[in-house]
Amino acid sequence: MITRIVRIEEKNPNPPEMKELGEIIKRGGLVAFPTETVYGLGGDALNPESSKKIYAAKGRPSDNPLIVHIAREEDLDALVSEIPENAKLLSDAFWPGPLTMILKKSPLVPTETTGGLDTVAVRFPSHRTAQELIKAGGGYIAAPSANLSGKPSPTLAKYVLEDLDGRVDAIIDGGDIPIGLESTIVDLTGDVPMILRPGYITKKMLESVLGEVKTDPTILDANSKERPKAPGMRYRHYAPKGELTIVEGSREDVIDYINRALSDAGEADLKTGVIATNETAAFYCADIVKKAGNRNAPEETAASLYRILREFDDENVEVIYSESFQEDGIGDAVMNRLLKAAGHKKIVL
Ligand code: TXA
Ligand code: MG
Repeated sequence: MITRIVRIEEKNPNPPEMKELGEIIKRGGLVAFPTETVYGLGGDALNPESSKKIYAAKGRPSDNPLIVHIAREEDLDALVSEIPENAKLLSDAFWPGPLTMILKKSPLVPTETTGGLDTVAVRFPSHRTAQELIKAGGGYIAAPSANLSGKPSPTLAKYVLEDLDGRVDAIIDGGDIPIGLESTIVDLTGDVPMILRPGYITKKMLESVLGEVKTDPTILDANSKERPKAPGMRYRHYAPKGELTIVEGSREDVIDYINRALSDAGEADLKTGVIATNETAAFYCADIVKKAGNRNAPEETAASLYRILREFDDENVEVIYSESFQEDGIGDAVMNRLLKAAGHKKIVL
């Protein structure tokens, strides 16, 4: 299959090519597209064959369900058996945007799309190009992140191409992605709403609308023997080729510790890298030092984290140290993804 690449700017999200891209989806084909969180790998959510193709293209286990993307709030009705009050409150507050809700599915949604579950994940993205593709493609697009299973979610079209060239019909290159980490997932099928994956919409924001909100305890505890409720969170997640360690402590202690560890690694002839901030980058003596934005701007770290991890792989860095980041706002999601990438290896000084 030859993968076609179409450049579409969000400020002009509905060029003439969009109709053809929608036709590809309607015919059962696959189109990767930008969203405000990460690039998605889209197919017709109501067509079981499309969902099977998505799993095959990603190399993903078929018991790991897909998120159904819609472009009009009223399209939620057909996907779910009932809309609880909490879902109305959340959609009013945060849709369109980086929030995915888990609800009881209707018979319209094939179990191929939900990985065999009787619930469905639904998201109404705010990215205008995503919205136009969803509308052109018939209204319901199933889309996991557009990476090969086991790699970081792509935040640039070049990474989508690297992973999916020849595996999808088309890729929409929409340039940079504003957020850079996947959507918050909240399960509304239990008594108390539960966060299954942290993201840009934080627990505090959800609580301000819903009152009590829990977090799936298995994603907070690295040693938990229980299975996370979002099947995707239980698969071994992306780990860089290099050995990644997070170091937490006062600024001076962290710089000191990492520099000593770097000099040991250097003596052993290993290629070294550091994930630092704008304020601290100059103090490290690694082969490659990456800046993950300003220390007090977790959204800048979110937007650069996956790109940095991919670059370290391309540069064959063997030993990586990362500073630890504040866990407020999207910083919570940043640390969730970073800890996973590090296999939970964190040194607290
Ligand atoms: O920001 C995002 O959510 C991106 C963009 C493309 O929209 N999509 C994304 O999809 O991250 P994916 O497939 O990479 O992650 C979906 C996660 C997986 O962990 C999956 O297990 C979980 O959502 N999930 C999907 N349906 C579910 C369900 N019915 N119950 C529990 N978890 C579900
Ligand atoms: Mg993913």
